[in-house]
Amino acid sequence: MGDTIERTLVLLKPDAVQRKICGEIISRFERKGLALTALKLLALPPETAAKHYEEHLGKSFYPALIEFITSGPIVAMVLSGPNAVKVVRAMMGTTNPVDAMPGTIRGDYATVMSSNIVHGSDSIASAQREIAIYFTEQELVQ
Ligand code: PPS
Repeated sequence: MGDTIERTLVLLKPDAVQRKICGEIISRFERKGLALTALKLLALPPETAAKHYEEHLGKSFYPALIEFITSGPIVAMVLSGPNAVKVVRAMMGTTNPVDAMPGTIRGDYATVMSSNIVHGSDSIASAQREIAIYFTEQELVQ
């Protein structure tokens, strides 16, 4: 596997903003060696949340997911670097914080699925789709 430079979308969810731990989490990504390529604080409109999570429409957790992600401001960012998609996913830990290893973001900061702090794209294709939901091409620093 080559060390391809990738871009990935990361969201710091409303629980991260409310708990004032965004700086700590961004620091982890920066210390790892990933570069901030775009960054904004926003209140996610329900229709944008629905677009982001459209693949989960109809699942049992879908209403809770949309309610949570629109419950307060979030931080959206694009991180770039070698293998950024997989590196971010590894740093986040498993989706359910109960299983997340200490040392991962969810392992260190979260206890329940309904407040799991962070989102990261799960593939390069997802990253391209998700980045376009949150950022224009002009907002991405080259
Ligand atoms: S699946 O069916 O395996 O694809 O689903 P999964 O990857 O486990 O979860 C998809 C996203 O839904 C979030 N999720 C929840 N949010 C709030 N409340 C509850 N109960 C809940 N259950 C799942 C989960 O964190 C995933 O969101 P992201 O933003 O990708 O982490």
